[in-house]
Amino acid sequence: MKNGFQKFLLPGGGYISKDAEEIPKQGEKGKGYKPWEAFQKGIGKSVPLMLCEVKEKITSVFKTRFGKKPGVVSFAPGRVNIIGGHTDYNGGFVLPVALKQGTYIAGAKRKDKKIIVYSENLNEKEAWKTENYEKEESFGDFIRGILKFFPFEITSGFEAIIYSDLPMSSGLSSSAALEISFLYFLMGLEGRKIDKIEAVKIARRAENEFVGLQCGIMDQFTSVFAEEGHLLFLDTRNLKYKHIPFPNIWKIAVVDSGIRRELRTSEYNKRREECKMALKAVKSLYPEVMTLRDVSEEMLFEARKFMGNTAFRRAMHVISENQRVVEFVEYLGKMDLCMIEKTMKLAHQSLSEDFDVSLPELDFLVEAASSLPYVYGARLTGAGFGGSIVAIIKKGKEKKFAEEVEKEYMERFSRKASFIFSYPSFSAYYEYTS
Ligand code: GLA
Repeated sequence: MKNGFQKFLLPGGGYISKDAEEIPKQGEKGKGYKPWEAFQKGIGKSVPLMLCEVKEKITSVFKTRFGKKPGVVSFAPGRVNIIGGHTDYNGGFVLPVALKQGTYIAGAKRKDKKIIVYSENLNEKEAWKTENYEKEESFGDFIRGILKFFPFEITSGFEAIIYSDLPMSSGLSSSAALEISFLYFLMGLEGRKIDKIEAVKIARRAENEFVGLQCGIMDQFTSVFAEEGHLLFLDTRNLKYKHIPFPNIWKIAVVDSGIRRELRTSEYNKRREECKMALKAVKSLYPEVMTLRDVSEEMLFEARKFMGNTAFRRAMHVISENQRVVEFVEYLGKMDLCMIEKTMKLAHQSLSEDFDVSLPELDFLVEAASSLPYVYGARLTGAGFGGSIVAIIKKGKEKKFAEEVEKEYMERFSRKASFIFSYPSFSAYYEYTS
C-alpha cells in the first residue's frame, strides 16, 4: 500500500509546519488530551492544525488497512537538545525542548492474542503473539521492549499503525518518541494509568535493557514532561526540572546532515564506558563521588595520572558542559544574546574536540549557521556521529536560513541537508477516537 503521508512531507523529509507557536495547553493529567475539545473549552489559544491533520490522516490509513476505526490514537514528541550533550548519563544538566514533530500510533484491540504492527514510514509489517516474542533488530523491538516492561497484564492482542514525521537516526530522539507514544497508546488500550515518572523509567528500561542503547534519561523525560512554549531544564541527578519560557521571537531550526552512522549504538556505549573509567580514577582519590557531576576540574586534574588521555578529555567535556548549561539558563534569563551564542559555540567545540562525537560535515553546518546574522547560536544535537545540528534563529527567517545553509553545504560536501523548523511543543498524550 502506498504510504498515505507523503503529501505532508517536504522533499528533504521534514516539513515546514503552519505557524503554530500559540500551542494549546494540555488537558488534565492522565486523561487523553483532545486538542479540539481543549480549543472549544478555551483551554488552548489555537489548534496545532498539523497535528489534527496528521491525526485524521492516521485514523483514515488505519481504517483502510484494517477496515475499522482505531480505538486509541497517541502522540509523543521528538526532542532537540539545545545544550547539555552527553551529560544525562553522568548525573548532569540538560536543556532540551520537545518538537512538534513526533510519532503517532493508531490502533484497536483484537479478540485474540495476536499483535500486528505497521510502520507507515518503512512500509513494513511485523506480527507476533502477546506472550511470545524476542528481540529481532527491527522497528518492532521498541514496541516489544515496552510490552516487556509494561507493569500490567496485556489482556488482548491489537493491531496498530505507526507514523512519524521525525527523521530516524538523525539525533531527534525518534526512538524515545516511538517508545513513549506506544506506552501511552497501551495505557489507553488497556485502560491503565501510569505515573509520568514511571512512564519515563519504563521507556528508558526498554531502550537500555531490550533495545540495547545505554542512553540517559533526557529523551524519554522530555517526551513526557515537556510543556508547550518552554525549554525543559532538567537535573538528571534528582530529576528536578523547571520549564523555562522560550522567547517567542525565536524559532528552532534543525539541520539534518543526512549522515547516518551504523556505529551509533556501539560508539555511544563506548563514550559511556570512557566516562566510567574517568569516574573510577577520580573515585580512587575521592570515594564519595557518585557521578561526574560531583567532580570539579581541580579534582579531575588531580586524578589525571590514574586515567588515560581519552577518558580525561571525555570527563573534561562533561564537567565543562554542566557548567555551560547552568550559565546558558542564566544568559537566557537576561537575554544576553552574545553569551548565548558563545556558550553554544563552546559546547559544540567541546563535543567535537574533547568528546569526539562530531564530523567535518557537522562542524561545517554549525559554522555556516552561526555565521548568519539572524542566528543566535548553533551546535550539534543528539548523540552525534552524524545526525543533526540545532540552531536558534529569528522567527520569520526560516526560508532564508534553509536556502543559505543548504547552498553552502551542497557546495562544500555535495550533500543535501534537510530542515525542520519548530517551536517547543507539548508532551505525549493519547485519546480515544470513539
Ligand atoms: C542520545 C541519548 C540521550 C543523551 C544524548 C546525548 O540522544 O538517548 O540520553 O545521552 O544522546 O546528549
